[in-house]
Amino acid sequence: MTATGPPRMAHVTGWGRYAPSSILTNADLERMVDTSDEWIRTRTGIRERRVAAAHETTASMAAVAGLRAIRTAGLDPDDIDLILLATLTPDYWMPSTAALVKEAIGNTRAAAMDIAAACSGFVYSYATAHAYVTAGLARHVLVIGAELLTRFLDYTDRNTCILFGDGAGAVVVSASDQPGGGLGMEMTTEPQGAYMIWLPAGGAKSPPSRETIARGEHYIRMEGRETYRFATRTLASTALESIRRAGLEPDDIALFIPHQANTRIIEAVAKGLDLPMERMYVNVDRYGNTSAASVPIALAEAVNEGRVKVGDRICIVAFGAGFTSGAVTIEWTADPARGLAGDAAVRPEEVSIRAPLDWDSVDPIPPALAEILERPVAPGVEVPLDDVVPGEPEPAHSPEPVGR
Ligand code: ACO
Repeated sequence: MTATGPPRMAHVTGWGRYAPSSILTNADLERMVDTSDEWIRTRTGIRERRVAAAHETTASMAAVAGLRAIRTAGLDPDDIDLILLATLTPDYWMPSTAALVKEAIGNTRAAAMDIAAACSGFVYSYATAHAYVTAGLARHVLVIGAELLTRFLDYTDRNTCILFGDGAGAVVVSASDQPGGGLGMEMTTEPQGAYMIWLPAGGAKSPPSRETIARGEHYIRMEGRETYRFATRTLASTALESIRRAGLEPDDIALFIPHQANTRIIEAVAKGLDLPMERMYVNVDRYGNTSAASVPIALAEAVNEGRVKVGDRICIVAFGAGFTSGAVTIEWTADPARGLAGDAAVRPEEVSIRAPLDWDSVDPIPPALAEILERPVAPGVEVPLDDVVPGEPEPAHSPEPVGR
C-alpha cells in the first residue's frame, strides 16, 4: 500500500455479491426444532436462508463477491491498495480471512486485514475505507462483508438457529476529484450489550476444550428481546446522525439499506424516521440475517434491481453485537447497469482459496446440516461440487440479479 496524495472524495465504483446455492427453508427448520413457518415469518419476516456447501468457506465466498465488485468497477485485482474484510466467522484465527482473499483474487500489492464489529462490520469497514481514501492513503479499497454463520449455530436452539444464513457482499471505494460518494457517517459502541449476542468459547478467555464443546459454548448465544430493544432504539438515531452530518434530512434519502435482521426492526427504523417502508430495502425474507454480509448483499441487489440511480442519496445502517451501530450516507455516482456485467464476469468455480496442507483433517459441517446439503438444490440446476472451489449456478437467463 502506498500513499497517493492529498485528500479527495471517496465514491463507490464497484459492487458484487455471492450467495450459496443451498436453501434452508422455514419448513426445513420445522423438522429440526420446535418452531413453525408462521412464527418465523410473523416475528422475523424470514422465509429462507442460504447455507454454504461443504467446500465453501467465508474466504471463498468473500473472494467471489470481491472479484465481482472489482470487475463491476472496471478494475484489475492489482489496482486494489487495501482489502478490508468484515466478519465474525473468519476461516481461521490467523491468518486473516482478508489475506486469504488477497491471494485468491490475484492481488499482489494490497494490505489486507479483517475488521470485527459483528453485524455492523461492513459499515465500520466502509467508514474505514472512506478515511483511507480521503486521507490520500489509498486509491482503491475493496470492502467485503462475508459470513458463514450456519457453522456456528446450535440447531437445537430455536431462539437463534432460525435467524441466520451465509453469504458475502463487497464494494470498491475509490478516490475521485468529483463531488459525491460518502457524505456523512456515524459509529457507536455500547459495551453494556457485550454479552447480549456472543460466542462464549474459543477465545483467550475460554480456549477450546472438551468441556467447552460439551457445553455448546462454540455456538452463537443471544438475548433476543434485549437485542431487539437496542436495535429499535438505535438504528434510526444512528442513521439520522449520519444524514445530518451529510447536511441532509431523512426525506432526502432515496433508499435506506438497513441491516437485514428482522422486518419488524426495519419497520421500526422507517417509523423512527417518519418514512414509508418503500424507502427501506428488504431482502431478509430470502437470506435471513447474514451479519456483516447483509448490508453489502442488500446494496448490490438494490442497485442491480434498479432501486438506486445516479445522484440518489442512500444510507447504509447496521447494528450488531458489541453492541455496535453504524451508518454512512452516500451519494451514488456509478452507473447501476455495470453490476450485472460484473457479476457475470466472475464464475464462482474459477475462484479458489489455497488449501492448507492438512485440509483432510478439517471437517467443518455440523451433522444437523449434512442432510440438507446432500439433497439437490433445485430442479434443473447443476452445482459443481468440486472439493475446494465454491459453486453457484449461473442464472438461467442472464443477466438477472444473482440468487433470485
Ligand atoms: N419458534 C417458535 N417459538 C419461539 C421461537 C421459535 N423459533 N423462538 C422463541 N420462541 C418463543 C419464545 O420461547 C417465547 O415463548 P414464551 O412466551 O412461551 O416464553 C415466545 O416465542 C416469544 O419470544 P420472544 O423472544 O419474546 O419473541 P420476539 O417477538 O422478541 O422475537 C426475535 C424473537 C425474533 C429473536 C426478536 O427478539 C429479534 O429479532 N431480536 C433481535 C435479534 C437480532 O437481530 N439478532 C442479531 C443481531 S446482529 C449480530 O451482531 C449477530
